[in-house]
Amino acid sequence: MIAIGCDHAAVNLKNAIKAHLDEKNILYLDLGTDGEACDYPDIAEKVCNEIIYGTAEKGILVCGTGVGMSIAANKIKGIRAAVCNDCFSTRYTRKHNDANVLCMGERVIGTGLALELVDIFLETEFEGGRHQRRVDKITELEAKSMLDGDEEEF
Ligand code: RB5
Repeated sequence: MIAIGCDHAAVNLKNAIKAHLDEKNILYLDLGTDGEACDYPDIAEKVCNEIIYGTAEKGILVCGTGVGMSIAANKIKGIRAAVCNDCFSTRYTRKHNDANVLCMGERVIGTGLALELVDIFLETEFEGGRHQRRVDKITELEAKSMLDGDEEEF
């Protein structure tokens, strides 16, 4: 299951991705927006929660640039969101970073390339090994940053 969401700047791209997933019989949850103006962090939160709570394995977030969605998504513990505009970065953010959210910008890349990136993102496996150690360190950074917040209370 893939969780998918967009803001008002990327409804066309989200619809193209949905049609692409339909063709491939890949199940998805569409968390909006259907067209009304919205704030991208709200959509990022909805999509990422589906991953954190285990309903979805991966997420796809699209906005004007992909950047706002990725910044918001990466604030959520356990999320590794990557903005990708090319095949190489998309392949390697799966192989090396175990990215669980793909972010793209409708105002940045064409639909054909975006759909190819979706395929690469969904089909490429994490390599593990030395990359697992590095991903674990990202998880440790999340924990440390939470500790820093607690310390300020003392
Ligand atoms: C909306 O105009 C735009 O700011 C948003 O889609 C996104 O590009 C933000 O990063």
